[in-house]
Amino acid sequence: SIEYSLRPTTLNQYIGQHKIKENLSIFIQAAKMREEPLDHVLLYGPPGLGKTTLAAIIANEMGVHFRTTSGPAIERAGDLAAILSSLEPGDVLFIDEIHRLPRAVEEVLYPAMEDFFLDIVIGTGPSARSVRIDLPPFTLVGATTRAGLLSAPLRDRFGVLSRLEFYEPEDLQLIVERTASIFQTTITDIAAAEVARRSRGTPRIANRLLKRIRDISQVKGETEISLKTTNLALEMLQVDDVGLDHMDHKLLKGIMESFQGRPVGLDTIAATIGEESQTIEDVYEPYLLQIGFIQRTPRGRVVTSKAYEHFGMKVDDT
Ligand code: ADE
Repeated sequence: SIEYSLRPTTLNQYIGQHKIKENLSIFIQAAKMREEPLDHVLLYGPPGLGKTTLAAIIANEMGVHFRTTSGPAIERAGDLAAILSSLEPGDVLFIDEIHRLPRAVEEVLYPAMEDFFLDIVIGTGPSARSVRIDLPPFTLVGATTRAGLLSAPLRDRFGVLSRLEFYEPEDLQLIVERTASIFQTTITDIAAAEVARRSRGTPRIANRLLKRIRDISQVKGETEISLKTTNLALEMLQVDDVGLDHMDHKLLKGIMESFQGRPVGLDTIAATIGEESQTIEDVYEPYLLQIGFIQRTPRGRVVTSKAYEHFGMKVDDT
């Protein structure tokens, strides 16, 4: 699919996350020189920043298979045993949402990560016995929205911990231009910069917006995606001048209207706008915190005067 072909396959093609790339490139090179698997890698950060893409790149650069699963998909220790024992030496196993691994599965994972063996209990009651299964050495790449969601023993077993950051507009613009060229279309510099500026630092959002902008440009019969069409499309998609969408507005206005600048707890916000606390915390809050529209205080979240100004409102602190 196009979705898949948008993903870069080498570190050189991967735009942004400069420090992570620089580090990984050295660790990969060293592991290859020693003919060892790469140490286990934990990638964390908000959704849409390229954790899965980086994991696939690691496998590709190491010249090994890329196997993917997710925390909630591995329900029992036996599920994990089946996956691990089917790996070839050096393979990358990617576990998305690794913080959602059941605790019993996590405990089986520890010796697998540390010493490449499994202790599996067979049978129940007095006839239960434990068998040891040796595994091929492998690299676990785990992904999660926040490293703090992992238990300490699991976190401690990763040799490389990398936090993905929101992208700089310059890097996002390069991604938009790269995607446009994969779509076999062109976009003016100022239009690409505009998409980049209004994509909340997130390649997944930039690429999604570009697809819709391209639809409109195509229907208008343009030969090149213009700034005018870009602005029109973003307005149709309810993306505001700084890139906030309907959900961001709902979140911010919900807090502002109900709580007049007083701190409010996450669960109260969740109930007010009808979203899950975890989704608010992992998906919507990080960018609003980054641009200084929300602050976390010990007594709850506050919307800042910068956000009030964005909406043309005054802080009512009476
Ligand atoms: N497409 C999505 N994310 C990308 C990235 N970081 N580099 C290149 N292309 C991308």
